[in-house]
Amino acid sequence: MAEKMYYPNSELAREAHCASMEQYKRMHEKSIKEPVQFWGEIAKQFYWETPAIEDKFFSYNFDLSKGDIFIKWMEGASTNISFNLLDKNVKSGNGDKIAFYWEGNDPEDYSRLTYRKLLEETCRFANVLKSKGVSVGDKVVIYMPMILELPIAMLACTRIGAIHSVVFAGYSSDSLAERILDSKAKVLITTDGVWRGEKLLLLKNICDEATAKAKKHGHQLESCIVVAHLRRLNNPQAMDVANVSWDDDRDVWWHDEMEDAEASCYPVWMAAEDPLFILYTSGSTGKPKGVLHTTAGYLIYAATTFKYVFDYHSGDIYWCTADCGWITGHTYVVYGPLANGATSVIFEGTPFYPENDRYWSIIDKYKVTQFYTAPTAIRSLMKFGDELVKKHSLSTLKVLGSVGEPINTEAWLWFYNLVGHSKCSIADTFWQTETGGHVITPLPGATPMKPGSATFPFFGVLPELLDEDGRVIEGEGEGYLVFRRPWPGMMRTLYGNHQRFQNTYFDRFNGFYCTGDGARRDADGYLWVTGRIDDMLNVSGHLMSTAEVESVLAEHSSVAEAAVVSKSHPVKGQCLYCFITPNAEMTFDEKLQVELKKKVRERIGPFAQPDVIQHAPALPKTRSGKIMRRMLRKIAAGDRNIGDTSTLADETVIQLLFELRPCV
Ligand code: WT7
Repeated sequence: MAEKMYYPNSELAREAHCASMEQYKRMHEKSIKEPVQFWGEIAKQFYWETPAIEDKFFSYNFDLSKGDIFIKWMEGASTNISFNLLDKNVKSGNGDKIAFYWEGNDPEDYSRLTYRKLLEETCRFANVLKSKGVSVGDKVVIYMPMILELPIAMLACTRIGAIHSVVFAGYSSDSLAERILDSKAKVLITTDGVWRGEKLLLLKNICDEATAKAKKHGHQLESCIVVAHLRRLNNPQAMDVANVSWDDDRDVWWHDEMEDAEASCYPVWMAAEDPLFILYTSGSTGKPKGVLHTTAGYLIYAATTFKYVFDYHSGDIYWCTADCGWITGHTYVVYGPLANGATSVIFEGTPFYPENDRYWSIIDKYKVTQFYTAPTAIRSLMKFGDELVKKHSLSTLKVLGSVGEPINTEAWLWFYNLVGHSKCSIADTFWQTETGGHVITPLPGATPMKPGSATFPFFGVLPELLDEDGRVIEGEGEGYLVFRRPWPGMMRTLYGNHQRFQNTYFDRFNGFYCTGDGARRDADGYLWVTGRIDDMLNVSGHLMSTAEVESVLAEHSSVAEAAVVSKSHPVKGQCLYCFITPNAEMTFDEKLQVELKKKVRERIGPFAQPDVIQHAPALPKTRSGKIMRRMLRKIAAGDRNIGDTSTLADETVIQLLFELRPCV
């Protein structure tokens, strides 16, 4: 079955940094054949206190039989990231340019920050950190909502060579404690609290619980710096709840400290491979993995992917809805945009507050040109119907981005046709916390799109598909998605555990970085990431992906969301077990089940017909919106031994799904 191709609109292509597939292919080839020249040329756009040693620009080992895995870019070079992101832009005459528009949870609450002001605030806070005894290599944990002090805190760390570890401010005190302990953090930065939609979160109290837990395990935090965010909202209720508990020896208010701090701070020059940040991501064994990124390679990769994948031009207004607690917020809210001198929107709230059209009204308000969000957000907004989108002018949009999971055809088409008015390119960006930046993605002015395909590798990236025995699959086929060599922005280790790094990513297939995802290459060479390997299904010898089936199910007009897992089957090996969330006014009945089974039979094949279709008023999701298929597999199997559910946004979903489980 040939899918329809969607071509970049000619106006976009004319202006694009990469304007054709020929240009893309030339650049990609050069990035692979001459990585030193390719990235060396790009590195010239930045300031280096000392240059890289030419014949040590790039070295690595991906072969465990030859010794430990290592990745090094630009050895010998030294620089400071905040200097490149801020001072450089101010010096080049962009001091008065807006770096960030900030939009609060409450639509009446908004502000902005120029590059000059951002530099000043960063320096002042860097001086505050210094006054708390923070210096090169110290760890600083940041547990904050999406307010401007968050990027300021991150940048202040880079100013003085401290290593930040941002923990999403939706994690529990246990998770926060675990991360404080593992990183051995010296300082914690937070706020008194935050309103998220209509929900009030008292972050300082959570921090107090977490630090008490860390203390029990022998770790003493030296300082806690608290932004008076709720207090600032001159709202009597907020004032009342913001009477946070206080430890006079440890806790200080951000604004008190900033008052006397100098607005300049000489940058500390860091070596290319010095750590920049640690970001924890979930691991299959339960203990979070502290993914470590370093300085020079991350900078040039974040900058280059941002420029080409969003086709950013001066004057554009870019908005990424991700929280800085995730890698997307690191690379594509802070580092990538600022490295390009971009103007971005930072949004504190949720898509549903005060109304379900908040995203569309923000795009309209700031005249957003690039909008980057997640399929789960798109699907949840589709449920409210088209009128809410049509109410707003979205005419400034040029590029739409998607990240986090495979995007199903229905969501892709809705995004493309309704949000993008059939004229915007969609960048379906495949990457991971570990990859640091996009690795498989279309380029908006060049790549003809197929809905649901992340298309082709970014510059410097060499993907392969491997079969079960590690043999390279040439041409069409489906297998394990791996990378043959490092690009500048990839992770260097797991903090404090290089052995786990090697075991997790390099043991399965020697010589390759293993993503843990499966992918398919079609006859045109397009890559389709099919989901985590553990989401692969083998029904009667047919290899298929849960994403593939989900996409078909979600096309049904009564279905809001679908999640598919495998269940063991005596004859077929595995069968499909599907969880269906119907649209708001739709009922889940026998007729719907029959229709869905038929649809899958028709679209994929008789072997793919689901055995079970279960009603799921809601799905178990992490706070970042990722569906926890591991738990769905347990429910499908009738196994009540679910394990840790603390990462779920709503833990009550599990009980509900067990209750609705049909007798099978
Ligand atoms: C996993 C990484 C990268 C930032 C957000 C998630 C899945 C991500 C796509 C995409 C298909 C995708 C993969 C990957 N994923 N983007 N465009 N198409 N799958 O970061 O939490 O490290 O998750 O997300 O399964 O391995 P993360």
